[in-house]
Amino acid sequence: MLMTDRRILNFVLKLSDFTSRLRRMNQPRIIDGKAVAATVLEECRIETAALKAKGITPGLAVVLVGNDPASAVYVGSKARTCADLGFHSVKLELPAETTQAELLKVVADLNADPAVHGILVQSPPPKHIDEETVIRAIDPRKDVDGFHPKNVAKLVLEDPTGFVPCTPAGCMKLLEISGIDTNGAEAVVIGRSMIVGKPMAMLLVAKNSNATVTIAHSRSKDLPAICRRADILIAAVGRPEMVKADWVKPGAVVIDVGINRIADPSKKSGHRLTGDVAYDEVAPRCAAITPVPGGVGPMTIAMLMKNTLQAARQLG
Ligand code: GUN
Repeated sequence: MLMTDRRILNFVLKLSDFTSRLRRMNQPRIIDGKAVAATVLEECRIETAALKAKGITPGLAVVLVGNDPASAVYVGSKARTCADLGFHSVKLELPAETTQAELLKVVADLNADPAVHGILVQSPPPKHIDEETVIRAIDPRKDVDGFHPKNVAKLVLEDPTGFVPCTPAGCMKLLEISGIDTNGAEAVVIGRSMIVGKPMAMLLVAKNSNATVTIAHSRSKDLPAICRRADILIAAVGRPEMVKADWVKPGAVVIDVGINRIADPSKKSGHRLTGDVAYDEVAPRCAAITPVPGGVGPMTIAMLMKNTLQAARQLG
């Protein structure tokens, strides 16, 4: 090969290395919730063994009323994860006709059961059940969902003896493990539910996070403009692929809490899961993003296990 040919070849190789590096720089970081959840569950396994050595077997009761298929899947995987960690696991599947009084009796029995440290009644219950009354009936020391008013107050007060709702706790863990600095960051939470939106905003604004937080919702004026302000955008609205590319500031971190089932004739099942974010068009603009599935979803169960261990520790 002539000297000039070699030089040209080297130049081309360098150029191709440079362009592939540039391409990599433009790729968003995909936050792997499955991997982070596995790490959290490993920590849980170690703590379970330590508690068992002290004669305490962590116990979680999950209660499902009715036969909503998605809820049945969630409850099944919560119970399976408990069993896998060596917890005492109680799974109660009650018929859709269960009365409010019958459900309250089930909760009272679980409150009184010393082998049960955590109680979770899957939401949403059937229409004839008043969810607020059921939540208030759960012993707040066993309320591993963190929905009881006493735990909501502890979250606002930043009292670590309270239980933090599992999904927003999982989002915070993903931000922390991914090295995303929330200090002074502009965070926008879309959604104001008691399960995700409101507790998420509280966690982001807390003293150990220090974000500046906006809670937006379906009635917010010019939602895309509000979202474009965000360094950290949390989508928790339950509307498939609502957040579009032009809602996202280039370089933002996007956490997609949505798990929506949409029709997809190309799939054998006839459907697929998608988030609240139009992933394919949004991802190239982001510094980091969670996929659906495999992002926030697995974290919810992992944080539930952590909360149950906290309850077992605190109740003894
Ligand atoms: N339904 C959807 N998410 C949750 C959750 O975190 N806890 C309960 N109890 N129900 C849910």
